[in-house]
Amino acid sequence: MSHQGAIDANIKAFHAAETYDARESMQVLSTIFTKTLLEYEQLPVDPVPVYGDAQKPTSGIDLNIIHYDKSKSPSTSLKIMDFACGTGLVMEKMVPFLPEKSEIVGIDINQAFLDSFNTKVEKLSKQYPTISVHSKNLDILDSSNEDYIKNSLEGKFDKIYCTISYHHLHNYEDITNKVATFLKPGVGKLYIIDFYNEDVERSYSDKTTSHAVQHMGGLKVEALTKAFQNAGLHQIEVAKQYEVNIWQQPGFIQNHCNDETLNKWKEGKLESKISEVEGEVFSIKASIIMAVGTKI
Ligand SMILES: C[S@@+](CC[C@H](N)C(=O)[O-])C[C@H]1O[C@@H](n2cnc3c(N)ncnc32)[C@H](O)[C@@H]1O
Repeated sequence: MSHQGAIDANIKAFHAAETYDARESMQVLSTIFTKTLLEYEQLPVDPVPVYGDAQKPTSGIDLNIIHYDKSKSPSTSLKIMDFACGTGLVMEKMVPFLPEKSEIVGIDINQAFLDSFNTKVEKLSKQYPTISVHSKNLDILDSSNEDYIKNSLEGKFDKIYCTISYHHLHNYEDITNKVATFLKPGVGKLYIIDFYNEDVERSYSDKTTSHAVQHMGGLKVEALTKAFQNAGLHQIEVAKQYEVNIWQQPGFIQNHCNDETLNKWKEGKLESKISEVEGEVFSIKASIIMAVGTKI
């Protein structure tokens, strides 16, 4: 599988923006991701917290209110990139907490998702007129985009975040090298949030995953740390950060979950329910890894 092959598989896998947004798990996860991106400095590392109660609607997570003290955020405006931004679920939850005159640039290769991102931006712009958000359909590794990248992206960003997309990338090392050049030297920070599968640390099993999921549904701590080091980042922290109780479809379980959960599902031991949007879904605990580094 090549970089372009992974891009094509991703466009095919993620075409229905409305269905993506309507999945309860995506709403729950994007709320928790936004909160943890905002509060990263205050997050507990040990023991790993578990968010959400699968027995409650939306896992007991209030999707409308992120309890975050805005006075803790910087007062000066920020330039932020949402890399592989998808439909903008995290972006729309982030905007209310940004300092005035901040800017978000969303990058993705899937126009259907970017259209949904742009619809959210239109609505937000009325409520938060000083925050500027726009999107760009861009393959950052395509050399024909170099002029735009040099003029508009390099060295410009205070923060770049990327949520649950790294495990879809064929070559996240190359992507990390590239996005690191978009950070402001000395201050710019890269945040990766993704699914974690404890099994990837033990061995490479022969478990097959879809072409859209390139890394067995989990990233290795050491490999991600190396990718950050090679990209010239420092003050690197990479760790399994928390677990979230959510309901997921069989396809997700097969492509992302550890063998213990997979076997429970095969043996019919996972609790299930019927979701209007997704059909039969199962109660699982998703592990989340977070990687953070600062540009030298
Ligand atoms: C699971 S979705 C996550 C979207 C969003 N970050 C979120 O948290 O909802 C994965 C996204 O990665 C995007 N993607 C995959 N490969 C990419 C690439 N090479 N460059 C930019 N985006 C990519 C897909 O188009 C898709 O929108």
